[in-house]
Amino acid sequence: MKIEKITENKKQFLDLLLLADEQEDMVDRYLPNGEMFALYDNDLKSICVVVAINNETCELKNIATYEKYQGKGYGRTLINFISDFYKNSYQTMLVGTGETPTTLSFYESCGFEKSHRVKNFFTDNYDHPMFDGDIQLVDMIYLKKEL
Ligand SMILES: CC(C)(COP(=O)(O)OP(=O)(O)OC[C@H]1O[C@@H](n2cnc3c(N)ncnc32)[C@H](O)[C@@H]1OP(=O)(O)O)[C@@H](O)C(=O)NCCC(=O)NCCS
Repeated sequence: MKIEKITENKKQFLDLLLLADEQEDMVDRYLPNGEMFALYDNDLKSICVVVAINNETCELKNIATYEKYQGKGYGRTLINFISDFYKNSYQTMLVGTGETPTTLSFYESCGFEKSHRVKNFFTDNYDHPMFDGDIQLVDMIYLKKEL
């Protein structure tokens, strides 16, 4: 298994980016300034994107594993890697997500704890109603992890 920092042509991973964030113009808001990492186990399995918020805080903006390979530990491995990668640069890593229990418990199992919410983030910023299964995403729930 290897994890590589991707510095060129980040859009080559658009299929994975859209798994976590289905509207491309929302991805375009953070991709140019984001630092991208790709996990390979023979071939590509997962990616993530991290942006700086200020001198103390960075934010995990996107993380996705190909559906076929979810639940095999790749997402957790990538979060452990970036937590270590950024621990000397930032104190805190944030991540925001819709109110979906499986994603929230994924982040909690990776060491994040609930922080705050941004009311109506999904209804205000996306051009169509966003659903995860039957659940409509309305507020953005932020979790944080001390690095
Ligand atoms: C969220 C996501 C990135 C997790 O990546 P992953 O490679 O599947 O994660 P891991 O295999 O490392 O899972 C770690 C833990 O999360 C939980 N988990 C992960 N995927 C899960 C799923 N589909 N259903 C239930 N629990 C899940 C498990 O509890 C797992 O714990 P375990 O190691 O004790 O089994 C992946 O499911 C994904 O790409 N989802 C679609 C995109 C997305 O929603 N991204 C987040 C946007 S905010």
